Amino acid sequence: MKNIIGIFLISILVSVGLQAQTNPIKETSSPKGWLIQTKSSAYQITVDEKGNVLPLFYGGDALSDLKGRKASGRERIYEVPVRGGFANKTPALEVVFPDLVRDIDLEFVKAEIIDIDQRKALAITQKDRFYPLLVISYIRVIPETDILEKWIEVKNTGKKGNIRIENLQSGSIFLPGNAYLLTHQAGQWGHEFMLKEDLLTPGIKTLQSRDFKAFDAPSWFMIQPKDRAGKFSGPAWFGALQYSGNRRTDFDVSYMNELQIVTGINFWDTWWNLEPGKTFATPKFVIGYTENGSEGAAQQMSAYVRKNILPEKFRDKLRPVLYNSWYATTFYVSEEQQLKLAQVAKDAGVEMFVIDDGWFKGRVNDHAGLGDWTVDKNKFPNGLNPMIEKINAMGMDFGLWIEPEMVNPNSDLYRAHPDWAFHFPNRTRREWRHQLMLNLAREDVYQYLLKSYTDLLSQNNIKFIKWDHNRALSEPGWPDAPADKQREVRIRYIENLYRLIDELRNRFPDVWFESCSSGGGRPDIGMLSRMDQVWTSDNTDPLDRLFIQYGYLSALPANTMVAWVTDHIQNTSLEFTFDVMMSGVLGIGNDLSKWGDTEKKIAKEKIALYKEIRPLVQQGTAHRLISPFEDYRSAIEYVAEDASSAVVFCYNLADFLARSRPDTSGSNLLQLRGLDDNKEYRIEYCGIPADQQPQNTFTGRYLQEVGIGWPIKGEGKSRIIKIKAD
Ligand code: DGJ
Repeated sequence: MKNIIGIFLISILVSVGLQAQTNPIKETSSPKGWLIQTKSSAYQITVDEKGNVLPLFYGGDALSDLKGRKASGRERIYEVPVRGGFANKTPALEVVFPDLVRDIDLEFVKAEIIDIDQRKALAITQKDRFYPLLVISYIRVIPETDILEKWIEVKNTGKKGNIRIENLQSGSIFLPGNAYLLTHQAGQWGHEFMLKEDLLTPGIKTLQSRDFKAFDAPSWFMIQPKDRAGKFSGPAWFGALQYSGNRRTDFDVSYMNELQIVTGINFWDTWWNLEPGKTFATPKFVIGYTENGSEGAAQQMSAYVRKNILPEKFRDKLRPVLYNSWYATTFYVSEEQQLKLAQVAKDAGVEMFVIDDGWFKGRVNDHAGLGDWTVDKNKFPNGLNPMIEKINAMGMDFGLWIEPEMVNPNSDLYRAHPDWAFHFPNRTRREWRHQLMLNLAREDVYQYLLKSYTDLLSQNNIKFIKWDHNRALSEPGWPDAPADKQREVRIRYIENLYRLIDELRNRFPDVWFESCSSGGGRPDIGMLSRMDQVWTSDNTDPLDRLFIQYGYLSALPANTMVAWVTDHIQNTSLEFTFDVMMSGVLGIGNDLSKWGDTEKKIAKEKIALYKEIRPLVQQGTAHRLISPFEDYRSAIEYVAEDASSAVVFCYNLADFLARSRPDTSGSNLLQLRGLDDNKEYRIEYCGIPADQQPQNTFTGRYLQEVGIGWPIKGEGKSRIIKIKAD
């Protein structure tokens, strides 16, 4: 009997699961509303008898008693909270109507289940009860990566008079009362992606950017109930905004510990005048839920970025091993010297040779040249092509650094168009790294940049662009613009930035793009939907990098995390440095003219090993087994989707402390994850001769439940382990 019930239950679950796959959005009658299901989450919305649209539930309760749940105690909460009525919520929409009324009152109009780019979406239309304002809130389901995308469109349906948007966020989510832990990234130049944890208490915690730099607060966050905040199990909600301009995220906690999370464009010192007949659409707020703890959250978010966000052209391609000559030659570049470096790079196995800053007109140092995007004839009298041809003949592609959004006052561009830089009259134009920011909201600036790079890319065989952005915004004035447009400048800037990248990618589809902003200052998924990878940090010290890279992988996939081996090594070795950088997109940044036979041999062997394990690192699932934030060791494992192989990176930060502090490192055994219990795996410890390898076949179950012995001794030592099913 038990068996029959079991089979019956399984068949119900299977059919509900299948139904969720093909039809993730269902209309419900009691309560009246919609239920959206992904593999691990459910999002439920209702419309009450007064026409209010209310979120009921978001979490992992997909198959339980959602039906009939009441919004008890949560009447104040709306799917699109607005400024209007009582001010007891964080609004996602604040407007001023032409007659200066500042209060919105929405009512339900209709809901439709529609297809947007072959994915199902729920579009709920509401309108103001009096004024010509239409609000459409979307929830789109990405079933294959278990993600929801929320955004809002606002339309002025009137015939005359602008509606001024003073604030429009991408969406809001609500979690029931609980003591919640917030985890987010924060940092500064050289120390990006540090993980910070906060217990949320009643009040509002805001993470935001106001100067186009994301160091302080990249938009990714994760929420876990305090008493079940597990690494590999337990509920976790996470989210990020698909936007590269200024952002804000508010975590608004009531006295009963109910949590409202609202995120979107930061409307600080910003407005948007919505003309009659016009629509404003927000960027997407991406959210997910897992019951596999913080690692589950990281894996789900990374898979979404890798499979749904990255530009399609190179989405499934392996990222090339690149050499970048910045740290070797800085601004002092010449054809002869770069070709010498290229020869060593090629012998080591590099696939893409990149010249960084310094190649363009007048760029003798960081005081001059930005804005003049033609090749410096003093450094390259024959132009770039003869050099590129030789590099191509060595079997490598060629790439170049640019910084489109900036201008040095000492440049032809600035001398001709000083008004193209952001400025206010009667205010100092503050320089940062001797440069100003161009006002890309201007059409003439956009057209100039498009032409400059179209010329550059069509006249030279360039296959890779590193797109840098090295200063924060100040004096964001646009005196030439009509008064009602001036505060739209930041939003228009980002619109044109996206338009510029999109048009260049469209014109030059074979070029790879890397996002950089003084290191990892612009790593958002808005950029990553246009850029193939990210320069993670200017800090290339391998010990520091273990922390930076661990934090990065909380939200983003390893095939976007560019990591160079450089000469900046303290207390460790070239081998260790390679092993750290090989856990992302490997690059080399050393002064290769200083390499002797030993370094060349190490590099050649490591790059060959990287190419062998690259599909796992770049396309496998990352399991961060040991965090350097919590231990004196660090370990990360990448597993193939079919669990047929894996690679494990093990690092010792401080060996003595690790051994004498069992409270952190625990036993000397490392339990692996993501393997198939029933498969037999062969283990190969890289760097150990075949006849000295320890016992080398184990079942997946043994490797996951018992584990392998910690494979290294000594501070600053590392080991890479290859694992393959027999
Ligand atoms: C800052 C970047 O992070 C560096 O990698 C390098 O490209 C410099 N800019 C060049 O000016």
